[in-house]
Amino acid sequence: MHLHRYEKWWLTFGISSLVVFLVILGISAFHQGHQPPSANAIINHEKVEQIAPFDKPGLKKVEGKDWDYELVVLASAFFYNPGEVEIPVGSKVKIIATTKDVVHGFEVAGTNINMMLVPGHVNEIVTTFDEPGEYLVVCNEYCGTGHHTMKSMFKVVEKE
Ligand code: CUA
Repeated sequence: MHLHRYEKWWLTFGISSLVVFLVILGISAFHQGHQPPSANAIINHEKVEQIAPFDKPGLKKVEGKDWDYELVVLASAFFYNPGEVEIPVGSKVKIIATTKDVVHGFEVAGTNINMMLVPGHVNEIVTTFDEPGEYLVVCNEYCGTGHHTMKSMFKVVEKE
């Protein structure tokens, strides 16, 4: 089979691009741990308020884990429980969130935290709050007439 010189160049370029893309994807997934929201964690969203940890939303100090606090958030039309959280600055927090009715967003303004809360699924993200301040949490998935009022507030404060 005869291949034109330019055709060889383009084949080489195409295959190389594919390899580079797959290598970057592999590093992102396996080395940096990027992954879709924990789609394996399934929960009965109709009874979610009776199921731990969503029976007690809020911030809890934890021992013996890779993070200092766990923040359990339950979203529903049109608010988040808890509606306001104080987080000591510099603490590593695992946010565990779900929704009890429809799809809601969970975006922490000014950070890279942005999750889509889907009924029946549990979202988890581990993050560190290094800068003191107030972080508005907003819903960025249209969820009904009160969508634009749906918010929470993270207050990152100095430790006493
Ligand atoms: Cu909840 Cu929009």
